[in-house]
Amino acid sequence: MIDTLTRLDDLRARVAAWKREGLRVGFVPTMGNLHAGHFSLVELARRHAERVVVSVFVNPTQFGPNEDFDRYPRTPDADAAGLAEAGADAVWMPSVETMYPHGAGAAVQVRVPGITGVLEGAHRPGHFDGVATVVARLLNQVQPDVAVFGRKDYQQLAVIRYLVEDLAMPVRIEAGATLRETDGLAMSSRNQYLTAGQRQVAATIHATLEWMRQAAVEGRALESIESGARDRLEQAGFAVDYAVVRTPGLATPDDGHGPRVALIAARLGATRLIDNLEFDA
Ligand code: PAJ
Repeated sequence: MIDTLTRLDDLRARVAAWKREGLRVGFVPTMGNLHAGHFSLVELARRHAERVVVSVFVNPTQFGPNEDFDRYPRTPDADAAGLAEAGADAVWMPSVETMYPHGAGAAVQVRVPGITGVLEGAHRPGHFDGVATVVARLLNQVQPDVAVFGRKDYQQLAVIRYLVEDLAMPVRIEAGATLRETDGLAMSSRNQYLTAGQRQVAATIHATLEWMRQAAVEGRALESIESGARDRLEQAGFAVDYAVVRTPGLATPDDGHGPRVALIAARLGATRLIDNLEFDA
């Protein structure tokens, strides 16, 4: 039986009891509407801990005023059932009031400098402040030994590593691989916004990432890779926010060799999709 917890006291008591027994606690933060990608993170957490807590909380502070907070899919019953099957031990489902006792607008904020100024941070002002703020709270609430995040949100993972290191939080961060549909589209709760036609086009993102990798490995100039990627996406019908090749620290690389990540954010109608691919050039 999986426990669905909504009160902070109950969560703390549960985790404290496990720790008294010497059990390690793993944690997977999510916004719910769970899919196989999320469940793979639960499995990864399980490999590092005897007990696993998953949070389901659609965090208002990480959505911009014109973004999809209101229509973000909320499926708490299906999430709890799926998590029971995936082997989680508890679901943490706080209300907005529990997460933000002084109100979301009056909350103490955590802001990570530097890497939040580019790519997702540049296109979604304030987004990473909301992410860092809620993840800091979640880690304080759950107090896990290990927390697991997906590589699908490449920049978010970097922000969280920075946050945990800078605030000396006693937790290890583990990263999970991106799970994809058979045509390469990264699984995402936002995929269900797509019409059948858009869904077919959406696979172009992963195909373009693969093309960028190939072009980089062949030594093509960065500028030409990025404009080629943008052209491919626009021809398929996307409005492109960015299609870039960066170093693992998200700096612009020179044309030499080394570890790289290709990152894309692009919109089909009102639906915004992001994905990335790590490789060696
Ligand atoms: P959410 O989008 O629900 O994602 C929860 C976790 O699942 C994140 O670590 C994300 O990177 C990972 N994930 C999403 N799609 C994945 C896929 N296809 N394969 C593997 N992992 C995947 O990211 C958030 O929620 C929020 O910003 C959160 C960190 C919970 C803070 O509110």
